[in-house]
Order: sequence, then C-alpha cells, then structure tokens
Amino acid sequence: MIEFRRVTKTYSEGTTAVSEFDLVVPSHQTTVLVGSSGCGKTTLLRMVNRMVEPTSGSVEIDGEDVANEPPVQLRRRIGYVMQNAGLLPHLTVAENVATVPRLNGVPRRDARRRALELMELVGLETAMADRYPSQLSGGQQQRVGVARGLAADPNILLMDEPFGAVDPIVRAELQQELIRLQRELGKTVIFVTHDIDEAFLLGDEVVILAQGARKLQVGTPNEIISAPANDFVAAFIGADRGKRQLWISEAPNGRVLVDAEGRIHGTLAEDGQ
Ligand SMILES: Nc1ncnc2c1ncn2[C@@H]1O[C@H](COP(=O)(O)OP(=O)(O)OP(=O)(O)O)[C@@H](O)[C@H]1O
Ligand SMILES: [Mg+2]
Repeated sequence: MIEFRRVTKTYSEGTTAVSEFDLVVPSHQTTVLVGSSGCGKTTLLRMVNRMVEPTSGSVEIDGEDVANEPPVQLRRRIGYVMQNAGLLPHLTVAENVATVPRLNGVPRRDARRRALELMELVGLETAMADRYPSQLSGGQQQRVGVARGLAADPNILLMDEPFGAVDPIVRAELQQELIRLQRELGKTVIFVTHDIDEAFLLGDEVVILAQGARKLQVGTPNEIISAPANDFVAAFIGADRGKRQLWISEAPNGRVLVDAEGRIHGTLAEDGQ
C-alpha cells in the first residue's frame, strides 16, 4: 500500500504543484491519476521514488516513510516508466532493459537472459535485443520502457503517460498488453494519463485531479461513470455528450466499456476479486 499524507510540493520559483494531497493506493491493483496538463501528476509520481521531495507531508510505502530510505535504493525497487520511454540512446535494447538489474549487481549474462525474457513478456522480438532505441518504432520503444520498468521485478510500478507518444492503434495494443501483464503479475501500479478513456480502461481505481492535484473524484470506473461527483467531472468524462456516454457491461470474457452506439471501447482490467 502506498499512502500520500497531506503532501504539498512547492517548487523553488513558487509554483505549488501539489497541495495537501491525501490518497491511499491499494496494493496489487492499478490506480490511475488522470487530469489535464500541469495538474501535478508527474510531481505526485516522482514523490513516490524521491525524484521529487515533498515540501511538507509524507509518502509511505507499507507504513514506512520513503524519506527514510536512500533514494538510490528506493529507485532500484520501484519500476518507473517515463513519458516517451526515456531510453538511453547509446545503450542497446537489452542493455536498456537490464540497467537496473546490472546496478543491483546481477552478472551481465544473467541480466541479459532476464532482459530477453522481459522482451518476450512485453511482446518484443528478442531479435531486437542488440538494436539501439533509434532503430525502433515509437511503439517498440514504449514496450522497451515497460520491460525496463519491470526488470528488477518491483512490487511497485510507476507509469507516467507511457503510451502517450504512439498512434491510437498501437496505443490500444499496448493497453491490452498491460491489462494482460497486470492480470499475470498483480503489481501495485500507479498509472498517469490525461486520457479519461485510458483511465477507465486500465484503472481499478481512478483519481480525477484538478490543478494543484486537487482530487475531484476517486472511485472505480463504474462509480465515476454512474455518479459523477459534479458538473466538471461529468463534462470531463463526457457524460454530458450523448454520443460519448460510456458504461460498463458484462461480456462473456470480462467487463467491457461500451458507448451509446453499443461500440465496445475495450476490456476493463480485472479488479482482483
Ligand atoms: N522542476 C520544476 N520546477 C518548477 N516548476 C515545476 C517543476 N516541475 C513541474 N513544475 C510545475 O508544477 C506544476 C505541475 O507539474 P507536473 O509536471 O507535475 O504536471 P503534470 O500533471 O504531470 O503535467 P503534464 O500532463 O503536462 O505532464 C506545473 O505548473 C509545472 O509547471
Ligand atoms: Mg507529467
């Protein structure tokens, strides 16, 4: 469990990116933070692995304040998938995936074997292992980013708009892969996006944020869609636009998101029950 306790972050030039934010993030499920640009999503994520230090308040993992753990150690046990994959251009795909295991002292051969396994897990051909990031498509780079985030087998995975930079078809594929992976792995995932459809598709729980990381609503997709907390949330999720009304329907192989015309938008992640 990850807990934010009255967390505030004011950057040095005066912007308060996050103001008195409280949230409990349950283990072994996906919590999605969704909100428009600049509302503080990345700041929230980075306070979990201490890439950003809160001005006040605390972030706890299983009851332990992360401030008590050296940042380097913390980052080696928390997977972090950066926006636009964040790959190191001078390292091959396999070397990128194996970065954290190598830092953790895993011998080169074992780290490479693990990297190849992870490439398979995220749907990348292992023949690409010795290519450089610039020799991959955007979608392939994003998969490498996910593989790298999983490399140290972390219990916690932070994902910052990991599918933002690809076309809608590849994006849909990556989303389905993540749903499949998460069914298999059951990590504690915090996923950041500004796309409400992606939030409803991937989130067991969705947190809708306004500027300053002010929480507008927290709930399962079903709860938010069936009872938006206010007009702003209703507008944000598109509930006021007839053609975009979404609801969740039970289908033979799981829960699906359906629009007003009966078009299926995707499969929902299992909520672990
Ligand atoms: N290092 C920094 N120094 C000063 N201000 C910052 C810094 N990082 C972020 N901010 C400011 O804090 C606010 C929140 O930024 P943050 O990056 O957390 O937003 P975000 O929700 O991730 O946005 P986006 O969707 O565009 O990625 C913004 O106003 C931003 O300009
Ligand atoms: Mg951001």
